[in-house]
Amino acid sequence: MADQDSRPIGVFDSGIGGLTVLKELALQFPHESFLYVGDTARLPYGSKSPQTIRKYSEQIIQFLEKQNVKAIVIACNTASSQVPEREIDGLPIYNVIEPGSQRALELSSGKRIGVLATRATVNSQAYTHKIHALDPQAQVFDQACPLFVPLAEEGWDADPVTNLIVFRYLSPLLQNHIDTLILGCTHYPILKNSIARVTGSSIELVDSGEAIAQWLSRDFKSGRLGPNKSGEPRRIDIMTTDSSAHFTEMAQRILKPAKADQYAVVDV
Ligand code: DGL
Repeated sequence: MADQDSRPIGVFDSGIGGLTVLKELALQFPHESFLYVGDTARLPYGSKSPQTIRKYSEQIIQFLEKQNVKAIVIACNTASSQVPEREIDGLPIYNVIEPGSQRALELSSGKRIGVLATRATVNSQAYTHKIHALDPQAQVFDQACPLFVPLAEEGWDADPVTNLIVFRYLSPLLQNHIDTLILGCTHYPILKNSIARVTGSSIELVDSGEAIAQWLSRDFKSGRLGPNKSGEPRRIDIMTTDSSAHFTEMAQRILKPAKADQYAVVDV
């Protein structure tokens, strides 16, 4: 029988954002294989209704199950705000809301936490509810940033226009004296330099990749996830639901120094 633990870990997002999570996981778990799905044909998720986001996410989860993955990481906050963390017949499905909330509470000195996210995530109040469930004293200030995803997809991470828009979105949070800021959309770490320029060094930034990597590491230690011990070189396969040379170019930039073995277009 083939070694079950050599199966890849499935990771998905609406587009390139989840690659910021994949990069973190690929670097932290150098022996694990990964299968990434970017739903580029239906991007963005952040402006869609909860029903549509759930429908798209469940379709990708079913697709990844059929690819025989050993775990699924929902590397999209918008999808995570609608699809619960669960286990299907022993297959763990991780979402990024609780790891990010917990990490923010660990880092926050004054429990004044800002959340930047898509409109759908802000409307769901997923972060506010989770942070309050973990610490009822914490104060949460959220801000929808609908212009960030197109800027990140376009690769405008070092553009003066991006700096201006970042400043505009962050100003209300700075007026509320946040001490920690959750980048509550996996596209936003692509704009991290512009964001950090506005927040300065006194505000801690939390991104989904680092937060979920800690959870996977904990589950590898506890034995919930079995490590790949096949001895074969690991693979990173990237699938999108639409073809685009721009996606591949951006993916190579985001993943560096990790590298994908193959890019393919799929129907989910
Ligand atoms: N990267 C996704 C997230 O984390 C959403 C981007 C989109 O709007 O599709 O929320």
